[in-house]
Amino acid sequence: MKNFTSVNDVSNVPDLVDQAIEIKKNPINLSIGSGKTLGLLFFNPSLRTRLSSQKAAYNLGMNVITLNVDKEGWKIEFEDGAIMDQGSQEHIRDAVEVISQYCDILGVRTFAGLQNREEDYQEKVLSSFITHATVPVVSLESATLHPLQSLADLVTIREQGIVRPKVVVSWAPHPRALPQAVVNSFLEWITKTDTQVVLTHPEGYELSEKYTQDVAINKNQDQALQGADFVYVKNWSAYEPYGKKISADSSWTITKEKMALTNHGRFMHCLPIRRNVIATDAVINESLVIKQAENRVYSAQTVFKTLLEAQH
Ligand code: CP
Repeated sequence: MKNFTSVNDVSNVPDLVDQAIEIKKNPINLSIGSGKTLGLLFFNPSLRTRLSSQKAAYNLGMNVITLNVDKEGWKIEFEDGAIMDQGSQEHIRDAVEVISQYCDILGVRTFAGLQNREEDYQEKVLSSFITHATVPVVSLESATLHPLQSLADLVTIREQGIVRPKVVVSWAPHPRALPQAVVNSFLEWITKTDTQVVLTHPEGYELSEKYTQDVAINKNQDQALQGADFVYVKNWSAYEPYGKKISADSSWTITKEKMALTNHGRFMHCLPIRRNVIATDAVINESLVIKQAENRVYSAQTVFKTLLEAQH
């Protein structure tokens, strides 16, 4: 593994999930990261990704340095050849080359702007980091993917011990237009495991075919939920027209009545969650969401360990 930005950086997904489960049993391993530094750069807010990455690094004996680029750093220019006589003060090339000297692994969070689909789906910001970094780059959620979350989600599903589970991925309403990163990423990871996956969403919320080609789609949520072992729920904005909120249909909110259609299914969400909008309190309070967040530590730790071992 050279970088960790998508499932394509992983040679064997079930093996990586097994490694995370093993690490969780005995997480403190200070020698691997002793004298090494994890750099964390945030262009967007975070609770779980930031804290779980820090904890994972400490479990490995690493130091951690963090910069909220959007609030604390210079305004960064991303265009090659730009004449920087306007607002931006530092070029991405210089910034990343400098930060690479301070770190052994560099994590970056950079959300979709939701203004320009081509720019977002080309991962303009993350690609700039990969181009100019001299150390491995880890996605802390990019414009289109959230691989550390997906690995934690697969660990959480595996821990339930259900053979070939039915996993239903459902859209749910939200007051704002959100990126597609979490659902894209979950689909590309879950389809690498032995599961039956069904995607359900209202008309108009079709995702990029890149992420749905191996997935059954049923736009009737109640039908899709029948017999589900896991109900993975997320809001996302439209892929076409890109980044738009085209429905706020509260009949898609996950309720106890909807969960009763499943096979004693377990509700999952990456958090943060808008309670009584995405799902009701009763559903969330009995769900796997806290376990998912716990497993973010072991997901990050597995990835950092793999990258550090590759540097030896
Ligand atoms: N699930 C997740 O990535 O949470 P944060 O945005 O709080 O990091």
